[in-house]
Amino acid sequence: KYLQEDNLSEKCKKLLSILPKEKGWVGSYVYNCQGFWTPPKFLQGVISFQQQFQAQDSDIILVTTPKSGTTWLKSLLFALMNRVKHPIFEPNHPLLVKNPHVLVPFLEHTLYIDGRVPNFSTFTSPRLLATHVPFSSLPKSVQDSKTKLVYLSRNPRDTFISMWYFANNLIVHHKVTNSIEEMFDLFCEGASLCGPFWNHVLDYWKQSIENPKKVIFLMYEEITKKPKIELKRLAEFLECPFSIEEGNSGVVDEILKMCSFENLSNLKVNTNGKFSTGEEYKLFFRRGEIGDWKNYFTIEMSDKLNHIIEEKFQGSGLKF
Ligand code: A3P
Repeated sequence: KYLQEDNLSEKCKKLLSILPKEKGWVGSYVYNCQGFWTPPKFLQGVISFQQQFQAQDSDIILVTTPKSGTTWLKSLLFALMNRVKHPIFEPNHPLLVKNPHVLVPFLEHTLYIDGRVPNFSTFTSPRLLATHVPFSSLPKSVQDSKTKLVYLSRNPRDTFISMWYFANNLIVHHKVTNSIEEMFDLFCEGASLCGPFWNHVLDYWKQSIENPKKVIFLMYEEITKKPKIELKRLAEFLECPFSIEEGNSGVVDEILKMCSFENLSNLKVNTNGKFSTGEEYKLFFRRGEIGDWKNYFTIEMSDKLNHIIEEKFQGSGLKF
């Protein structure tokens, strides 16, 4: 059901008929639209988001490639930006009873899905939103406004394993068994969800260097290794740094603890809950570790991806 093309508009169906396509990760095909690969279900949402979204200067948009740790960053962003309204010690903190994807919704995948018109009147400022759309496909108002972009990247090897697992388990009661070899080749060719992975990462990386007040570039591995430093860096970028009193009262540690894999993945809402479309929240919590790819990659796979990574990121200053 999740990725059926039935309720696409005629305009979208027409567009799909002329777009390049490849074998899908979660449905029959992924289509190349504006240079990136997307399942058909999201095409309408991407277009509506581009054409209709009006950014506000105070907006904060989290951008990721799928499976880079979006759920984690959504929870950290929510806890950070709402720490006055919802003190971290609150027993019914929203993050304890709602999934992070509900608190920080996706623009093209949720709010604008199927060409819906979102009701933003319920949002408080700053609006916390998320997208997987590459930089060049963002609505003009996002690029032109003072909207802040929080970009999260992850080692492509772990991202691939996470994507392969997720895609195979996504469809409710209907697991697909795309082989790792087949999906690996697609990933390497660039036909991953919202790929090519390297283009997505490099475009935002470049923006973060050229315009550091607008784009912050974070890495899953860095947050894992030095969480306090990275959370403080994020807070400063968002112009809400931690005060000395907050530092003394342990708020930074508490936010990290609340948003940890261990805590979030064991909450009732995340073990039992699901989206209205049927997908279980627990799919967004698998292992949450660095380096799980080593348990899956053959030497050939490792060599092939190393070579691509070297070629694509050469001279960029980014290392994976
Ligand atoms: P693994 O499949 O490697 O375990 P996304 O949220 O972008 O869909 O990414 C999902 C990945 O982030 C999964 O990786 C998931 O386990 C991991 N993840 C989810 N919540 C996390 C958290 N609180 N801390 C660290 N990793 C987390």
